[in-house]
Amino acid sequence: MASIRRPGRASIFSPATEREREENFESYWRYQQRRDGEILEDAKDLSEKHKNLARFQSDTVRTRRPVPDTFDRNYITMRDDPRSLDRRTLLLTFLYKFARHEWIGISAAWDECPPVARAVYLIDKISRYHLAEEFCHMRLFQEMFRTFGLDGVEWGPLPKRTKQLYGAFARLPGALVAPPAFVSELMGLTVYLQLDKMLDGVVGDEPDVRDRIRELLRAIMTDELSHVGERRNFMGPIGVRAAKLMVRPMFRAFFGGIPEAPLLFDTRQMRKDAEAFDYSTISPEVLDVSWVPSYCTRP
Ligand SMILES: [Fe+2]
Ligand SMILES: [Fe+2]
Repeated sequence: MASIRRPGRASIFSPATEREREENFESYWRYQQRRDGEILEDAKDLSEKHKNLARFQSDTVRTRRPVPDTFDRNYITMRDDPRSLDRRTLLLTFLYKFARHEWIGISAAWDECPPVARAVYLIDKISRYHLAEEFCHMRLFQEMFRTFGLDGVEWGPLPKRTKQLYGAFARLPGALVAPPAFVSELMGLTVYLQLDKMLDGVVGDEPDVRDRIRELLRAIMTDELSHVGERRNFMGPIGVRAAKLMVRPMFRAFFGGIPEAPLLFDTRQMRKDAEAFDYSTISPEVLDVSWVPSYCTRP
């Protein structure tokens, strides 16, 4: 694993040689196996993550303030004026839309990626583990909704057209997929960082609920931070340049499609944070258990 004792301050867009990238894939693969354990292909699960989830499920925390019906009416599509929703409900309807978007992408990609046992290339094994991690996040999201008494929240069904579109994307050559795949991880991370900051204000009146949500969120965030580095490592110099140019339009397109976003976040600032991202903004608790490319840390 790359040295992360001292927070690195090199930009995520820092250059890397071919050789460095190869070594970083090796290091990342070791990190993934150590952190996740065995992959459980049929369940789209990972042995260590499975244990973690069971720990959360056996020690339940539940809100004492039921979420209003406005959640049910607005979580799939915003029907009401989003400004009429209380902040906690708004956060939850946003979270559902955000998570479902992820779920569609990973479901389509899973079908295009070979299982680890059949994978020939290291990057395919890494990608398979990565996708299994994302499916584990979906279970952690569901656990967040359960914490708010929303036990019935599901992701499906997947619209056929959307699945075809994402499937086609997943089949594009790696060099074309790498920059947008990297930017979407970076975008996800900026969302998690903002949510983390927001928890005190939104659910601070129930400290046990706040702490549980934070634990669930940090479990996801640790992986997502490692995904940002991993997806950076897929890109050569042209990919890195393309990714930088894609940040603005991708942030616009994504947040523009979610009516809750401008009420919860300063998306312009988040876009700037993404463009300037280095690891100095990440808390040591998260950084110490995550993974960072060697060329993004300074000795
Ligand atoms: Fe994700
Ligand atoms: Fe991710």
